[in-house]
This record gives sequence, structure tokens and C-alpha cells, in this order.
Amino acid sequence: MRVLVLTGAGVSAESGIPTFRGKNGYWRNLDPTKLATPEAFARDPQLVWDWYRERRERIRNAQPNAAHEAIARLAKQTEEFLLVTQNVDDLHARAGLPGEKMVQIHGDIFITRCSRCTFEHDHEHEPEHESVPNCPQCDALMRPGVVWFGEQLSRRELQRVESYLDGGACDAVIVAGTTATLGYIVDWTLSASHGGGELIEVNPEETPLSRFATRLVREPAAIALPRIVDGLIRSR
Ligand code: APR
Repeated sequence: MRVLVLTGAGVSAESGIPTFRGKNGYWRNLDPTKLATPEAFARDPQLVWDWYRERRERIRNAQPNAAHEAIARLAKQTEEFLLVTQNVDDLHARAGLPGEKMVQIHGDIFITRCSRCTFEHDHEHEPEHESVPNCPQCDALMRPGVVWFGEQLSRRELQRVESYLDGGACDAVIVAGTTATLGYIVDWTLSASHGGGELIEVNPEETPLSRFATRLVREPAAIALPRIVDGLIRSR
């Protein structure tokens, strides 16, 4: 069986991590242009740093939920599997999703990288810096290792998605917890499911992908995904 899973913030909602555009979502109360763009960081690095530090703390105190665990189970039981997540949290990894079967297309919130040179650092298990740290190599400001609005996706991660899709259509494509706002998420979903395989959307709300789905599951991911995954594993 060949599987592609695409996830968004909705999959981490039941772990207590706010979504972006849902009820009480980050972008409902905060302005992304003030927090998630290179210009915002240039204008007020401490404001941006504080926001990402607060998010990292919330993620450290959160636990993977049954949706993350079900996807990890499917990854382990499926020969050909790739998860493309828009989430910068580490809940998929903490649920046991092997790194080689996952692409964090918007980066990883626990990686900081230099805003000028190529230096980067994983500080998931280190004490937080109150103030914006400087790069040990070139002294420029360090920034969160995530993809901000207006920035390019990582060429390396893009290549990994494209080479998986070049491997042929999937028997099952699951898209869960995303508004599918970004064009590449829609493109990858449709290109992976064009061979007549299943396209399963898990989301309490309608999205631009709903009309292409072969199965619409209007339930929370932590409720629906264990059942869907059990069904797929049994049907192998
Ligand atoms: N289970 C499944 N889906 C859920 C749940 C849940 N428990 N709770 C909310 N949702 C759905 C919402 O209905 C919504 O469609 O999750 C979706 C969350 O959408 P967004 O907040 O737009 O998050 P996402 O799609 O991941 O955003 C994409 O945009 O802001 C940028 O870089 C950021 O990666 C992010 C990208």
C-alpha cells in the first residue's frame, strides 16, 4: 500500500496547540505580518522571539494525541509512506513518526538558525534564551527555523516531497486538520490521489479539497484517525 498523509494545525488542536485560522486561532487575535514575516523580525526581533518562545513552551508542555499516534502507527505498518506536515511542533515525531518518513514543510520551531549565515542549532532540550541570541559564527541574530510568509520553502524538503510523488499515485491520501489555504498542499494532495486511490479528508469544516474527497470525515482528528488507520491497515 502506498500512502500520503498531509496535516495542519487542526491535528495538534486536541493537544492544546491553537490553530491559526480556527476559533481562537493565532491569526484571529494576532497579525501575522507583525509576527511571521522577515520584515517583522527585522522591525522588532524581540517581539517575534518572545512569541516563538511562548509557543515552544506551550508545545513542550503538550503531548501527542491519538491522531499523531494513529499516523505513526500507519507509517510503521506501510511500506511506502510519507507524512507532509505544515506543523512546526514536534508532536508527530514524539508520537514515533520516523524522520525519514516525515517532511516538516514549514520547518521546526525547535531549530534556530542564523538570520545571515548557514549556522543552525537544535535547542529542543535546552533552556530558553530570554533575549534574541547571536550567531556564534557571524554574530548576526538567530531566528526561529520556520518558514515565514513570503519566504521560500526549503529546497531539500521540497525535493523529498517531489521525489515521493514521482514514485506514483497513492492508494490512500489522508488530509487532516488543514484549511488547505496554501496552493502546494492542494496540488500535492490532488497529484497523489489522481490514480483513483482514496482521498480522505478529516476536518470538522469544509475546505477547498472537500469536493475532491472520496471520503469526508467531519470529526476531530483524534477521534476519527485511529478508526480510519485501523481500517486501512486491515484492508492491506
Ligand atoms: N481535528 C481536525 N481538524 C481540525 C480540528 C480537529 N480537532 N480542529 C480544527 N480543525 C481544522 C479547522 O477546521 C481548520 O480547517 O483545522 C484547520 C486549521 O486550519 P489553519 O488554522 O488554517 O491551519 P493550517 O491549515 O495548518 O495553516 C496552514 O498557514 O498560518 C500558516 O504556516 C502556517 O502552517 C500554517 C499554514
